[in-house]
Amino acid sequence: MFASLASSNIVTCIVGMTTFWLLLGLFTRFRRRTPPGPWGFPLLGCLPHLIFTKKSIRTVFQNWYLKYGPIYNLKLGTANVVVLCDYRSVKEALVRPEFQDRARLDFLLDRAGAGVVLSNGRVWQEQRRFVHQHFRDFGIGKSSFEDAVATEAKCLTDALLKFDGQSVSIERLINNAVSNVIASVTFGRRFNYDDKSFQTVLEKFNENMEASMLRFGLSVFLPITKYLPFGGSSGIRENLRTYFNFHDDMTSEHKSKFDESNTRDMMDAYLNEIKKNRGNSLSDIFNDDNMSWTIADLFTAGTETTSTTLLWAFLFLLKNPEVEARIREDLDSVIGRNRLPRYSDRQNLPYVEAVLSECLRLGTTSGLSLPHVASCDSTLEGFEVPKGTLLVPNFHAVFTDNDKWERPHEFRPERFLDKEGNFIKREDFIPFGAGRRLCIGEQLARMELFIFLTYILQHMTFSIPEGTTPPPDRGIDGFTHKPRPYNVFVKKCSV
Ligand code: HEM
Repeated sequence: MFASLASSNIVTCIVGMTTFWLLLGLFTRFRRRTPPGPWGFPLLGCLPHLIFTKKSIRTVFQNWYLKYGPIYNLKLGTANVVVLCDYRSVKEALVRPEFQDRARLDFLLDRAGAGVVLSNGRVWQEQRRFVHQHFRDFGIGKSSFEDAVATEAKCLTDALLKFDGQSVSIERLINNAVSNVIASVTFGRRFNYDDKSFQTVLEKFNENMEASMLRFGLSVFLPITKYLPFGGSSGIRENLRTYFNFHDDMTSEHKSKFDESNTRDMMDAYLNEIKKNRGNSLSDIFNDDNMSWTIADLFTAGTETTSTTLLWAFLFLLKNPEVEARIREDLDSVIGRNRLPRYSDRQNLPYVEAVLSECLRLGTTSGLSLPHVASCDSTLEGFEVPKGTLLVPNFHAVFTDNDKWERPHEFRPERFLDKEGNFIKREDFIPFGAGRRLCIGEQLARMELFIFLTYILQHMTFSIPEGTTPPPDRGIDGFTHKPRPYNVFVKKCSV
């Protein structure tokens, strides 16, 4: 009897607390002009809505958008989150100075230091300035750098041609090729496609990028789960350790051959920066720990995004062979088969530019972008945004907004062309973000996408392997939105 009395008291207590929580939520929302949004459980907020559903996060977020409008509010664990689903609010949030911070993912920090992506304040400014400076010195965006990208595109093309007449998954090769471009910027070298230890590093990176939002979400929004076996953050940390071991080998190699008068790559430039600032106020900012995070950030942010966009590009071309045929026609008439494409050719290849933009739009590689954090109490579009709020730009919703894009779920590169066939750069299309946190690698990524795509299409065609069904447009939502694994049938083009 005592047991049943106790359990009925517990139930009453839970019901009472939940009612109090819901009323408090409603009252606060009303009083503070908080955006509307889904109700949440005490302490857990809306996490259960995301955990106990078979739907993807993208779909759940889209349903809330349809129900609550383009700006909605939810609690994830203890974090206050505002999701932005239209161009106007996203653009405003991305450029406003008080929304430029990031949330620290402390559960990742087995290793001290901070890089670019997740740092704030002076550390972020200085790391970002350093990377920009180095990209400029290295010639990114200029023809001098194109040779490094072109060399890699040639290696990738040759590797793919070995599968002439066969069906193959292109993911691993593309991933390796794209990360080789970053490796040549940071470490001054590339890694063969059969280099086992580099393959392991890439696999671990991929695992982290693909780690379900759930694993990351729980560790970020409910930090206590990091102590539980199902919390999942230990796997993420373990994967990072593999990268840092590789990074430490690169650092030792660079330190042993360091010559300040001969800067071979970004790591040399960083070691120079550390030496230059020894003993002054920047010595805390330029050190070995921050160097490892800054370079890790370039690998993480630069490899997965670009290779995923290329995978979307080939997937859309497989399903729209007439688009691939038109690209090849344009390549033949502008470049021919006797020379390789140059980045400067893009001015005469507006259709290729349009196809790449359409892949960035419909594939929406960075579907929920990287959340920003409000550094003080503020307002957005008439709603109050308290300090510490996480602002999530929902690019999925923005890039498929019916008011802005005609038949948004169709693959139609023509939407980026005017009547004369010239490429239109649309202001309201911001796959690389905007404002002071704008993607640092945009120029590099655009160059890579153009060169890799045109090199491959100049040399081979991809088609859906016989007896298989076309790959689905619905991707996997990890940190990026990535196509499900698919194979292509490779056929060498006659020269
Ligand atoms: C198709 C390829 C890419 C896409 C779609 C993409 C997209 C983005 C987006 C949406 C952001 C967040 C911007 C914001 O917070 O407002 C971002 C940030 C960033 N990206 Fe990229 N990116 C790509 C390639 C690259 C490459 C190649 C690199 C470097 C080599 C890179 C490095 C970074 C870094 C370091 C940040 C953080 C910037 C900061 O917090 O200050 N990205 N990217």
